[in-house]
Amino acid sequence: MLIVANWKAYVGNREEAKKLLATAKRLAGKTRKLSLVLAPSFPHLGLLAPGNRSKVKFAAQDLSETSVGPATGEVQGEILYDIGARYVIIGHSERRALGETDALIAEKAKRAFAAGLIPILCVGERERDEDAQYLAELRAQLSTVYAALSPRDRSRVIVAYEPVWAIGRRAEDAITPHDLAEMVLYIRKVLADHMPPKTAKAATILYGGSVEPGNARSLVKEGGVEGLLVGRASVESATFTALVKSLR
Ligand code: PGA
Repeated sequence: MLIVANWKAYVGNREEAKKLLATAKRLAGKTRKLSLVLAPSFPHLGLLAPGNRSKVKFAAQDLSETSVGPATGEVQGEILYDIGARYVIIGHSERRALGETDALIAEKAKRAFAAGLIPILCVGERERDEDAQYLAELRAQLSTVYAALSPRDRSRVIVAYEPVWAIGRRAEDAITPHDLAEMVLYIRKVLADHMPPKTAKAATILYGGSVEPGNARSLVKEGGVEGLLVGRASVESATFTALVKSLR
């Protein structure tokens, strides 16, 4: 099982960042079936990832679609890989809200693989309408990216299903495990348009959106996902510890 801790911009100083890494190391040392990936801000990634020898792995929260060169303010996959990131979150709804399109996210997926990073592709509908337009929205988000990738890379993408209406709220606002299981089936169906059915069935799919210690276990067990992308509940040591322990 894979737990990705998306620290977003919640962690404001180095001491807090170091403390959260120490917590993650402790938790990772105790569980064999759990893989922990931390996604700090760029500066904190540079602080924590180099020289990391623990089982904890690192993700960046985004990468540039440009290549290394004259691109002021951009951070490319090669730089992220060099400092120790092995994954990168792309297409997070908070970045889509700033104007990122599916085409741009597809470009970022290609850049990630070229730099040796595994992309964690966030997809999810903004709202649920009655005539199920949200399924078409989800299909477009997935298909644009998969169509841009080689067959080999398609099989290595990690999908994080994060319905936008469920992000940054409380456990009561998260999706129900039953509805999640249906969405996971739908996602695998879309993936099967881009790869052999067996490969689509084996794809890693995470859920994200108001995951807390109280609902993490049922979302994973009944929702049929391989893990979770956790925001708010990942930036407080006691809460994150309770969440991870609930999954053992
Ligand atoms: P949340 O965020 O757990 O705070 O809802 C999840 C995410 O946006 O990745």
